[in-house]
Amino acid sequence: MITRLDHIAVAVPDFAAAIARFRDDLGLELEGTEDVAAAQTQTAFFAVAAAHIELIHPLDGGGPVQGFLDKRGGGLHHLCFETDDILADMARLKAKGYRLLSEAPTVGAHGSLVVFIHPKSADGVLIELTQRSA
Ligand code: CO
Repeated sequence: MITRLDHIAVAVPDFAAAIARFRDDLGLELEGTEDVAAAQTQTAFFAVAAAHIELIHPLDGGGPVQGFLDKRGGGLHHLCFETDDILADMARLKAKGYRLLSEAPTVGAHGSLVVFIHPKSADGVLIELTQRSA
């Protein structure tokens, strides 16, 4: 079951400059940065009252985020909702005809389990579901 909005992710072409913008210019608290090798992505998370802002940047010059930046030059990348049972939600959504980007959850930031819903199944918006590690 979906329990809440977890974070909004912004793909950024200059990771350090974007971190400085959100931390120094906007005054948000930088919780930390993490490389997510499985997604070829660097992440930075900022605490805000209701959810998080996630900055994502290619980890090694390749991967899906690089493809997004090449095409779009940065911008809003995906919405992420927290779930308390990712496998049940995947099965439920698949049964409703949603296209998922992976057959099984993958490991995301914070060691969470994540899966993405294809934008073609959601009006052009990439949606991530995340289940926190216990
Ligand atoms: Co995310």
